[in-house]
Amino acid sequence: MHLLEFRNISMHFGGIKAIEDLDMRVKENQIMSIIGPNGAGKTTIFNCITGLTKPVKGSIFFSGKDIVNLQPHEIAKLGIARTFQNIRLFKEMAVLENIIVAQHCRTSSGLVDTVFGLGRFRREERIIREKAIEYLEFVGLYDFANTVSGSLPYGAQRKLEIARALASEPSLILLDEPTAGMNPQETGQVMELIENMKKLGKTVLLIEHDMKVVMGISEWIVVMDHGVKIAEGIPEDIKNNQLVIEAYLGKEY
Ligand SMILES: Nc1ncnc2c1ncn2[C@@H]1O[C@H](COP(=O)(O)OP(=O)(O)OP(=O)(O)O)[C@@H](O)[C@H]1O
Ligand SMILES: [Mg+2]
Repeated sequence: MHLLEFRNISMHFGGIKAIEDLDMRVKENQIMSIIGPNGAGKTTIFNCITGLTKPVKGSIFFSGKDIVNLQPHEIAKLGIARTFQNIRLFKEMAVLENIIVAQHCRTSSGLVDTVFGLGRFRREERIIREKAIEYLEFVGLYDFANTVSGSLPYGAQRKLEIARALASEPSLILLDEPTAGMNPQETGQVMELIENMKKLGKTVLLIEHDMKVVMGISEWIVVMDHGVKIAEGIPEDIKNNQLVIEAYLGKEY
């Protein structure tokens, strides 16, 4: 069964065809990567999944339900979380608080509950805090729970973003270049993290430029170029695909 399916998705910005007639499937509990040169349409795919941009055409099925007309918060509630290519943290807030505020946006306690149902509110507070701590441990940042986020090294800030996404307990997690700007050691840690997410039962969709990461952990790879899917397959096949090599010519790959 496919957890996520794109049918005939197109997204245009003025005259730019950011995505053109894309069909794509992600299997449940799979680690799948989307690769391609700059401007290929990779981030636009994530923006369509999460409802930040509405495709001009096509359907996106998540667990069999078309989500293309849903609002971002409705899509998040179904169990999809993401990180961004550019880090989006509250830099002046402590590490733990960054995760907690993100979860507040999606819990059920409204103002009425807060005033008249303090018991439930406190219970939710406690659960949110416990989850935040759990996922900080998961990404190896527990010791920095009270550190101001903006003072963390860049690689650690990226890990915090991952913890924040995980704390909403999504079944599908979208990671947009999670190892960008990381040193080889941190990159290795993120590869391990992604494999641990799979062990937790998550489905991981990854946009990544580092071919060591892509070829090392992907079970399936989709290759985009100028908004079009030019290839897909297992790492071994993608490595030797002539169209892919041409799309990357001039790059170190
Ligand atoms: N909000 C927008 N308004 C106008 N054009 C956009 C917008 N978002 C993306 N584009 C354009 O759509 C195309 C695909 O962009 P996208 O960000 O999806 O590429 P990408 O594959 O993620 O690239 P990169 O590897 O550089 O992150 C590019 O030509 C980009 O300039
Ligand atoms: Mg991008």
